[in-house]
Amino acid sequence: MFSRYRKQDAARLAGNAAPKPLAEVTRAAAAKAPVPTAAPVKAMGASLRPTPKPVPAPVAPENKEKKRRERLGEIKVELHSRLLDNLNLSALDKASEADLKTEIMEITSEALDEIGVVLNRDERLTLNQELYDEVKGLGPLETLLKDDSVNDILVNGPRQIFVERDGKLTLTDVTFKDEKHLLRIIDKIVSAVGRRVDESNPYVDARLADGSRFNAMVPPIAVDGSLVSIRKFKKEKLGIQDLVNFGAFSPEMALYLEAAVSTRLNIIVSGGTGSGKTTTLNALSSFIDNAERILTIEDTAELQLQQTHVGRMESRPANVEGKGAVSQRDCLKNALRMRPDRIIVGETRGEEVIDMLQAMNTGHDGSMTTIHANSARDGVSRLENMIAMAGIEMPLKAVRSQIASAVNLIVQASRLQDGSRRMTSITEITGMEGDVISMQEVFRFQRVGLTPENKIIGHFTATGVRSHFSERFRMWGYNLPAEIFDITKG
Ligand SMILES: Nc1ncnc2c1ncn2[C@@H]1O[C@H](COP(=O)(O)OP(=O)(O)OP(=O)(O)O)[C@@H](O)[C@H]1O
Ligand SMILES: [Mg+2]
Repeated sequence: MFSRYRKQDAARLAGNAAPKPLAEVTRAAAAKAPVPTAAPVKAMGASLRPTPKPVPAPVAPENKEKKRRERLGEIKVELHSRLLDNLNLSALDKASEADLKTEIMEITSEALDEIGVVLNRDERLTLNQELYDEVKGLGPLETLLKDDSVNDILVNGPRQIFVERDGKLTLTDVTFKDEKHLLRIIDKIVSAVGRRVDESNPYVDARLADGSRFNAMVPPIAVDGSLVSIRKFKKEKLGIQDLVNFGAFSPEMALYLEAAVSTRLNIIVSGGTGSGKTTTLNALSSFIDNAERILTIEDTAELQLQQTHVGRMESRPANVEGKGAVSQRDCLKNALRMRPDRIIVGETRGEEVIDMLQAMNTGHDGSMTTIHANSARDGVSRLENMIAMAGIEMPLKAVRSQIASAVNLIVQASRLQDGSRRMTSITEITGMEGDVISMQEVFRFQRVGLTPENKIIGHFTATGVRSHFSERFRMWGYNLPAEIFDITKG
């Protein structure tokens, strides 16, 4: 039994470093539990006595169920740590899934027999799966990673894991055993991509095998235990039609955006954190003609363009010796020598802004990027700040006219207070008036009120202004129906 993947039990045979008896852990829980366990057993495998039959205690069924779940939770924690103590982790890498599952099943059923806990089939399957995930996968994170309704996973130390579903954060009952356990999983993730995280190198960005974006920061910089943030990778990216169906924007706005992308306007998607910027950028890119050569540049490759002719680049931070960094700006400069028709930068956040604006101004129209800002006006200020921070000494007016001639459209993505993600504004940049960049909003989300359940009531509407680009649209063969620019009455 357990011969292949189980550690030689030298420590236990020698009588030291024995793992805590399972019975000890369950005893405390059993004291509270409605179903009494077997008499305490000294150590796993030590008892040959048959397990006494449990005597049911008179407890209300829902209470009984809750207690049982609590108790199961404790048993799981102990079984997890036993597995880690007992399995030869390096040999496991070569073990087949079937072999390992069989082995885990045997260990589990032996342990359960020992403490006299009877599980139903589903409970047993879940327990075995969790133990398998622990050994082969990313432990407690695995179920959350598999859950398609989860967008983000946010870990604040071992005992607190939040998830984001439908724009709302909720605390889960998933936990790590302790900080050591959490660190082991972090280490597993980052070492798989050749990175390291420790006291001297306390934070790291990585990409999980499934493409999810991963960031971790460990103590002492993270004060109460390691902090982990995961943005789940969606295999099925939301397309224009999905976003319209979800109420992210109206069919009229979709028509307008199609004309804007097809006629090669330079577009910036602006928005707060997790507001749907990347999703919007990805959806907008679907309007690009398949014949065009598109180059994408990102810090973590998230975009999934459907076109055939796409060159993807991902920047790289410096290695532990501080060498080998390739910034987004380096990629962008190189991209300009790669004959792109369009350049898409996942998020402009630093000095690459200079090259991005230059590219937009010099023949790579139809380029797109995202920025972190709360409104179109705020987005323009962000661009100005980024240029100043990049050390470019230029009068403000010159900076502004550079921005005004490079950027045509700012699309604002927002996550509203009820968790819904909407395109709250589409704003055209029309030029300069004196020292100020002039812009006009063409579409917006009009809030009307709140339902008793705190859901936002509102509708999309045009603002009634004539598009600055209507002539351009017409010249390119996009005769947008005049009604789409009519104000919608709520
Ligand atoms: N309109 C929408 N309706 C429902 N879910 C959405 C919508 N837009 C985006 N999402 C989901 O919200 C999550 C965050 O979206 P996205 O990655 O596009 O945000 P972001 O603004 O780029 O975030 P970050 O600032 O972290 O880069 C994703 O899981 C995405 O699938
Ligand atoms: Mg993003």
